[in-house]
Amino acid sequence: MPRDDCRILSARFGRRDGHKLAVYEADGGYRALRKALTSMTPVAVRDEVKAAGLRGRGGAGFPTGVKWGFVPAGASTVYFMVNADESEPGTFKDRWIMDYDPHAMIEGAILSSYAVGARLCFIYIRGEFGWLIDRVQKAVDEAYAAGYLGRGILGSAYELEMLVHKGAGAYICGEETGLINSVEGRKGQPSIKPPFPAVQGFLRQPTIVNNVETVAAVPYIVREGAATYRRHGTEKSPGTKLWSVSGPVRRPGVYELPLGLPFREFFTQDLGGMADGEELKAVIVGGSSVPVLTADEIMGVNLDYESLAEAGTMLGSGGMIVVPSRCDMVELIQVLMHFYWDESCGQCTPCREGTGWLHKIVKRLRTGAGAPSDVELLERVCDGMMGLTICPLADAAVMPMRSFLQKFRHEFVALAHRPEIAQPRSRWARQTNEVVR
Ligand SMILES: Cc1cc2nc3c(=O)[nH]c(=O)nc-3n(C[C@H](O)[C@H](O)[C@H](O)COP(=O)(O)O)c2cc1C
Ligand code: SF4
Repeated sequence: MPRDDCRILSARFGRRDGHKLAVYEADGGYRALRKALTSMTPVAVRDEVKAAGLRGRGGAGFPTGVKWGFVPAGASTVYFMVNADESEPGTFKDRWIMDYDPHAMIEGAILSSYAVGARLCFIYIRGEFGWLIDRVQKAVDEAYAAGYLGRGILGSAYELEMLVHKGAGAYICGEETGLINSVEGRKGQPSIKPPFPAVQGFLRQPTIVNNVETVAAVPYIVREGAATYRRHGTEKSPGTKLWSVSGPVRRPGVYELPLGLPFREFFTQDLGGMADGEELKAVIVGGSSVPVLTADEIMGVNLDYESLAEAGTMLGSGGMIVVPSRCDMVELIQVLMHFYWDESCGQCTPCREGTGWLHKIVKRLRTGAGAPSDVELLERVCDGMMGLTICPLADAAVMPMRSFLQKFRHEFVALAHRPEIAQPRSRWARQTNEVVR
């Protein structure tokens, strides 16, 4: 559901047969690649992306052109990887690009590989995306047949091989070093940084990992130029962003918005407000790993990196979860903590044990077996996790947990002091005398 005034990534969503090469070419596809290979050096492509101010859309928001510049000059073997693992709860925008516009991602991946000097590019797709793996593979085959991949691309000296790699079925494989380990055939567990992948990644060679949405923006930037891209968004957050919106709003779905749009405008005009009978309680704006904002807080915020940071949260992946008044926030955080506990790879004690404890304590409160001291205990467990692990998965559990405790503390306290209002334990739990798992 794109806005007419800003259709860079979503312009072809819903286009009939838009995933096929012939239709993509008819719409101007692969013109950016032709332009780059005939008139731009790899450094010129990198500089254009840098000038556009494109930031990584996978979660961290790191400037893309700057990251590409970390590849050591003169490196003989460089790899490029597209991160299509998309597993963050609430996030479902990369799959739209791969479904409706796979060639935009492929053209962007070729341009990005050219910019960093890679000759082998992997597209790492979440294993559960069976139909998309098929779709992307067919598009890659079409690109090979048309001479956009392989040796001497479009008559130039540039060559690139592209491999579609099926993901190993774990959230942690989306973390870039976990992803690289997974492609190498090892357990998808993160590695300590530094060294960063741009210096030492796949097979110990410089490797750049970029999100699908980041990569899909590159053809537009190369074709139209950085200045045109910068017409959208704000000075510090240029361009557009895809948001996947879930929850009881009138029109949930995937939206492309210029960065900096006031949430209030998006909520009332695009989403149509809450569905009948619902009231807004809170919004988790950037995927489940970021701090929650209350209804009052979110209404005054603009949707860009800086404004969201100022409001105490993060833009993250753009997976926007809208929470209605009827939602029990303790139940919601229990679901999220279960996710992080389940997905922790187990290498770091604070994460392996901490995520389990957070889940157990919240569950204990919800089953009426909690104690008033549990609320402080949750905070102490968070203190023992934040910033103390190999990768940010532990932080990703702590950030929502802390914000729920801070902003909806009364709901936790009520359960701790009045266990009779807690959810009855399940029959299975009663029979097995199980309180926490
Ligand atoms: C636990 C965890 C899961 C992640 N999952 C994804 C993912 O599914 N897709 C993604 O693009 N980035 C994911 N990331 C971020 C990647 O590590 C990496 O920063 C990103 O792919 C870089 O691309 P970008 O600069 O284009 O954003 C994840 C990070 C963590 C810590
Ligand atoms: S923080 Fe958690 S997921 Fe990340 S490496 Fe440590 S144990 Fe694994």
